[in-house]
Amino acid sequence: MSLYYFVTLILSMKKNTKLYETVAAMMAPGKGILAADESDATAGKRLAMVHLPNEPENRQDFREILFAAPGIEEYLSGVIMYDSSIKSATDAGIPFADVLTAKGIVPGIKVDLGTVDLHGFKGEVVSQGLDGLLERFKEYYDLGARFAKWRAVITIDEDELPTDAAITMNCIMLARYAQLAQAAGIVPMVEPEVIYSGDHTLAKAELVTTRTLQILFHTLQTYKVDLEGLILKSSMVLAGDMCPDQSTPEQVANATLRTFHLSVPHEVGGIVFLSGGQTPKRSTENLNAIARLGQQPWPITFSYSRAIEEPVLMAWQGKPDRVAEAQKTLLHVCKMNSLATQGKYDSASDGVLK
Ligand code: 13P
Repeated sequence: MSLYYFVTLILSMKKNTKLYETVAAMMAPGKGILAADESDATAGKRLAMVHLPNEPENRQDFREILFAAPGIEEYLSGVIMYDSSIKSATDAGIPFADVLTAKGIVPGIKVDLGTVDLHGFKGEVVSQGLDGLLERFKEYYDLGARFAKWRAVITIDEDELPTDAAITMNCIMLARYAQLAQAAGIVPMVEPEVIYSGDHTLAKAELVTTRTLQILFHTLQTYKVDLEGLILKSSMVLAGDMCPDQSTPEQVANATLRTFHLSVPHEVGGIVFLSGGQTPKRSTENLNAIARLGQQPWPITFSYSRAIEEPVLMAWQGKPDRVAEAQKTLLHVCKMNSLATQGKYDSASDGVLK
């Protein structure tokens, strides 16, 4: 081995060690990740559920309830933020990212800029946001972010969608984003979300998710993304919400793990789930059923947005005197999901999750 090659090897190992440490912190046993990365517009939809206007103060108050909640570090290893939240601070002036870091929670940032129509492919979309991304990563790193998320959307419709062309285009974007993230010392969380709405069967969702993940990992490997320094954020394999034939948690767990075993290389740093519009209770029950199938080649945990935030919002209702109650609810939801990652969630005795 030449000296040059040896030095390059040592340097590259050194570089990626940081990514692996971040992955290990994020995938700490019994902990999960809160996806509080909704855009300001989507935050408005959440606030509307409790009849609050989409004003910066309301978004700010809700984020502070989440990020500053005492004790969340027992169950949360990471929080994904949005551009406006990673640039915001508590009422006392402490940047949100610093609040999280001080608790040992890894701050993350959503970096895709949403979807646009994929021209020529009716009903299919592609995510945008690659232009200037390396510079944005540098800025987010300085603000404290150590991982990032990019969401691609894969839609199932009748027999025709998704097309391989749309999946491939989205996977190329995900691979490019992942390369840039790793170059900036940031762990990429790659999220090809297979959408749950529709009347498709469980079998169809399994087929589509397997195909999507196979194309994704083939593309990531083609572009030399370091899979050990990367986290997959996946949908669970679910029959569409309008499908008359709904599945049991055991069926979901089996279909989901079959999919992963056919498509996800074992060196991938970890797998986290989005909740995708399932109720909080169902997403926790399904995670529990997955954990009950035993140890897998990858650590697996939750990275929910709606399934965590909605019960908290309902407890808060925008009322200052209900902040403590809202934070208690947040802790409960996170604890139940933490138990679910260990296959120890008992839904029959949980009166909070609906
Ligand atoms: P949900 O849990 O609400 O699906 O959101 C997770 C997420 O990160 C979507 O991009």
